[in-house]
Amino acid sequence: MSWVLVVFDTKFGATREIAEEIGRSLRGVGLPADVEAVTAGPDLSKYTAVVLGAPVFGGKLEPPLCDWVHKNLEKLENMPTAVFVVGASARDDTAETRAALDRVMDSALCGSECLGAGLPRGRFAGRIDADKLPAPMRFMMHMAKLPAGDWVDLDEVHAWAISIASRLI
Ligand SMILES: Cc1cc2nc3c(=O)[nH]c(=O)nc-3n(C[C@H](O)[C@H](O)[C@H](O)COP(=O)(O)O)c2cc1C
Repeated sequence: MSWVLVVFDTKFGATREIAEEIGRSLRGVGLPADVEAVTAGPDLSKYTAVVLGAPVFGGKLEPPLCDWVHKNLEKLENMPTAVFVVGASARDDTAETRAALDRVMDSALCGSECLGAGLPRGRFAGRIDADKLPAPMRFMMHMAKLPAGDWVDLDEVHAWAISIASRLI
């Protein structure tokens, strides 16, 4: 019996919503799936496949996902694993933004060429609510010329989840 863990990092909640939609979509096609925050240190022992994702801040992922991948690398390399990344730059779906987001994700995958190999990567735009940002992040957003906006598209997330479902078995 296949059992999928969708593991995510988040600061402001958009990646949680995306991860929850992935879990719902997989369950909707009959694949048991749990959704857990990486900060809870999920245990992989009961799972046969993993979907992992995190948001980009300042051109990189935050340590929790990278640390968890590092800790579980051997197991992850021996089970189907799909990856997604959430970043405002995904709102313009060009070869350049795809490559930039892929580089960010690659660095979180500990140089492993197996993780997510052969499965389409998810690249989702997320959300920036300037009013909810602490001052240093508002400054960072300003310096990086990032716009505020809500680009979360759960239909797109659902379509991606369905596209990978059969590869997680
Ligand atoms: C201070 C700041 C820096 C960001 N840096 C980037 C970035 O370098 N590249 C990018 O594509 N998106 C960037 N974003 C957009 C976030 O990835 C996006 O808001 C995402 O939805 C956040 O996910 P979360 O709500 O799960 O925390 C940044 C957002 C903020 C507020």
